[in-house]
Amino acid sequence: MSSYGSCGGVAPRSVHRERSHWTKELETEHTTDEVKRLRACINDLVSILALPAIWSGHEPSQIGRTLLDALVGMLRVDFAYLRVVDSLDGTPIEMVQVAQFRRNLQVRPDELGRLLSPCFTGQPPTSSFLIPNPVGEGNVSIAHRCLGLQNEMGILIAGSARTDFPTETERLLLDVAANQAVIGLQEARRSIEQKRIAQELDHRVAERTRELHEREARIRRLVEANVIGISMWNLNGPILEANEEFLRMIQYTREDLVSGHMRWTDMTPPEWRDRSELAIAEMKATGMVQPYETEFFRKDGTRAPVLVGSALFEEGGNEGVSFIMDIAERKRAEDERERLRQALADLAHISRVTTMGELTASLAHEIKQPIAAAVINAKTCFRWLSRDDPDLPEAREAAARIIKDVLRASDIISRIGSLFKKGAAQRELLDVNEIIHEMIVLLRNEASRYSISIRSELADDLPKAMADRVQLQQVFMNLMLNGIEAMKDAAGELTIKSGQTEDGQLRISITDTGVGIPSEKVGQIFDAFFTTKTQGTGMGLAITRSILEAHGGRVWATANSSRGATFHFILPTGGKAAPVSVGT
Ligand SMILES: Nc1ncnc2c1ncn2[C@@H]1O[C@H](COP(=O)(O)OP(=O)(O)OP(=O)(O)O)[C@@H](O)[C@H]1O
Ligand SMILES: [Mg+2]
Repeated sequence: MSSYGSCGGVAPRSVHRERSHWTKELETEHTTDEVKRLRACINDLVSILALPAIWSGHEPSQIGRTLLDALVGMLRVDFAYLRVVDSLDGTPIEMVQVAQFRRNLQVRPDELGRLLSPCFTGQPPTSSFLIPNPVGEGNVSIAHRCLGLQNEMGILIAGSARTDFPTETERLLLDVAANQAVIGLQEARRSIEQKRIAQELDHRVAERTRELHEREARIRRLVEANVIGISMWNLNGPILEANEEFLRMIQYTREDLVSGHMRWTDMTPPEWRDRSELAIAEMKATGMVQPYETEFFRKDGTRAPVLVGSALFEEGGNEGVSFIMDIAERKRAEDERERLRQALADLAHISRVTTMGELTASLAHEIKQPIAAAVINAKTCFRWLSRDDPDLPEAREAAARIIKDVLRASDIISRIGSLFKKGAAQRELLDVNEIIHEMIVLLRNEASRYSISIRSELADDLPKAMADRVQLQQVFMNLMLNGIEAMKDAAGELTIKSGQTEDGQLRISITDTGVGIPSEKVGQIFDAFFTTKTQGTGMGLAITRSILEAHGGRVWATANSSRGATFHFILPTGGKAAPVSVGT
C-alpha cells in the first residue's frame, strides 16, 4: 500500500529555462518523481483491486473498515466515511476512519453522517463541496461516491482540507474503491442471504424431523400401548404387521405373523365376507371405512367379535391399517344383562309369591267372612223352604244373598290367584281407581293388624291406562306394603290419591306417616337388593320401577313435610304404553 501522500499530489512543473546541466538534472529528477508517483498509483490500484479477495466471507462492517483503512492510507485525506445500508431491514451502518495526523481528534460516525447528509438524500452535489472540518479547523473538500445506482447500498465519502482535493488520481482511486465496495458488499449480502436460507432450511429440516419423530413416537406408543388392536395389511389378504393386542385377540403369536402366513381373508368367517367386500369398496372410494362390527376366526377356530375401522395408506394403494377393538367383553356384558333381566323377572315373581304367602293368613280371614255368611244364608234358605208352607220369596232372597256371598269369596280368591300367575304380560285398558279399590280390600286386613287406616282420594272420570293388570297390582302392592311396613311400630294412615298431570297422564301417590326415608338413602332405595329390613329382599322398588318404566311411566319418592314418605308415579293413558319388558 502506498504511503500517505503518494497519490494525487501536485507535481512541481518545470518552467522555461535554458538547457543546461542543471536543467538536465532537474528534468531527470522530475521524470524520476513522475515514475515514482505512477508506480505508487498502480500499487494503490492493485491494493484496492485485491480487497474483495480478503473480504470473502466477511460481514459488511468488516468490509467497510478495511476499505476505509486502505483509503485513508492511500489518499491524503483528513477522514473517510462509509454508510452501508443493511440489506434486510434497511438500517444504515455508519463508520469513519480519521487520518493518522488527525487521530488526536475524535468524531462520531453519526455526527459526521449528519454533516454529510446532503450527500444521502435528494440530489447530492455531483462534484466536491465544502463543509466545516469535523476533525480540524477550516473547511474540508468532500468527494463522494454512491454505492449502487442510487445510494441503495450506501455511500463512500472522503474529506480533505487540501484545496486541490480530489485530484484526478484520487478521483480514480475513489471510483475503483467504490466499485470494489459494491462488489464486496453484494457478495457479503449474497453470502448472508445464503446463510440465512441455509439456516432456515436447517431449522425447517430440524423442525420437520422433530415432528416426524414425535408422530412416530405417538404412533409407536399407540401401537405398543396395546389398548387397541392394530394391524397393517395388503388388500389381497396378507397381514404385514400387527401389535400384541391384535395377536392376543385372535390367539396368534408373533412367530405366526413373521412366518407371513397370516391372512385376514382366511380369518373372516364366510358370512362376514360380504361385509368385508363392502368395506373394501368403501375404502377404495373414500380411502377409509367407518368402524363396523364383524368377527374373526381365532386360531382355535372360535370367533372373536370385533369392531374394525380401516384406512388405506395412500389413494389407489393396496396397503393400509386397521384399528380393531375386542368387543367380546361387551357381547358378554350384553348376554349378562339379558340373564340379569330374566333373573329380575323371576325374582319379581318369587317376591310376589312370598309376599302373598305372608298375606295368606290375613286373607283367609277375609274369605271366611263371605263363606260364613253364605252358610248362614243357606241355612236360612233351607229353613224357609222346609216349612209346611214354604216361604218362597224369603227363600229366594236368602239364595240371592248366598250367590252374592259366594261371588265375593270367589272374587277375593281369583284376585289372589291372579297375583300368583306367572304368565305373559297382557295389556288392556284398565281403570286404575278400580285396581286401587281392589288393593285396598286386599291389604285392609294387613293394615288394621298394625292399627293403620287406609284412605283414598280418587279423581272421578280418570282416563283408562293401557297396562298389565297383574303388574299394576304388583306396583300398588309393593308401594302400599312398604308404606304399611314403615308405620308398623307407631300406627298411622296410608293415603292413596289418583289424578291427572297437566298433560293428561295418570298421576298416583301413596303417602304414609311412617319412619320416612333418610336423605342419604333416597338415591339408593330403587336399587335392586337395597333393603333396611331383616326380612326384606330389596326387590320391591326395583321391580316397581322396571314395571312402570316398561309402561312408559316413572316413579319417584319425596319426604313429607311432617312425617313419612310419599311415592309418586306417572302412567301414560290410552295406548301410548311402551312394550312390556318385565314379564312375571
Ligand atoms: N314408604 C317407605 N318409608 C320408608 N322407607 C321406605 C319406604 N319404602 C321403601 N323404603 C326403604 O327402601 C328400601 C327398599 O324397599 P324395597 O321395597 O325395594 O325393598 P324392601 O321393602 O326392603 O324389601 P321387599 O320389598 O323385597 O320385601 C326399604 O328397605 C326401606 O328402607
Ligand atoms: Mg318392599
